Amino acid sequence: MKNIVILLSGRGSNMRSVVQACATEAWPARVAAVISNRADAEGLAWAAQQGIPVAVVDHRAHADRAAFDAALAAEIDRHAPDLVLLAGFMRILTDGFVRHYSGRLLNIHPSLLPAFPGLHTHRRALEAGVKVVGATVHVVTPELDHGPIVAQALVPVRSGDDETALAQRVLQAEHRLYPLAVRWFVEDRLALQDGRVRHLDGASQLLWEPGLG
Ligand code: GAR
Repeated sequence: MKNIVILLSGRGSNMRSVVQACATEAWPARVAAVISNRADAEGLAWAAQQGIPVAVVDHRAHADRAAFDAALAAEIDRHAPDLVLLAGFMRILTDGFVRHYSGRLLNIHPSLLPAFPGLHTHRRALEAGVKVVGATVHVVTPELDHGPIVAQALVPVRSGDDETALAQRVLQAEHRLYPLAVRWFVEDRLALQDGRVRHLDGASQLLWEPGLG
């Protein structure tokens, strides 16, 4: 049974999709803890209601990034994690933190990386006039929103899309993509070779649902 620790800063809808898939699909894993840098994170309250251990490590209570990351890692490591998930965790992590969880730290980002890393993803995609957007689950490396890609979901842009409509459809894709990628990880179906992630059974690492087009 693998231990998953999930970090979030807000709504926590991706965390919910992972928690629910883990339970309904009977993964060989459990969500051991949900940790937030914000006490008022909506996702934290939901996790607590499910009986999942929750904790807050407030970044404002620490002098610098290194001190915050050390406190965060101490809290995470209490749960002996095999896998740590960033699920809307809006903090830049230090190299030391990323190295500590090397190969067992995943993130989801609402774009087809390496396009549009960072904030205001959907606005920038619309401004660029791209015709397809999506979401990416990747292994975290020290560079923000970069790292070996585990899986991507495609979402075509519709002519009338604004930022809100696009974000909403990409989020639906995220809710399918993150559980899929995490399930592969906990079932040991992934291999990291030469900076690329390969599915050992040759499954497609691209998700495309025509309904989201
Ligand atoms: C998601 O869209 C996620 O991809 C994004 O924050 C949102 C969190 O929503 N993450 C990033 O932008 C990371 N760079 P949620 O709290 O409902 O899961």
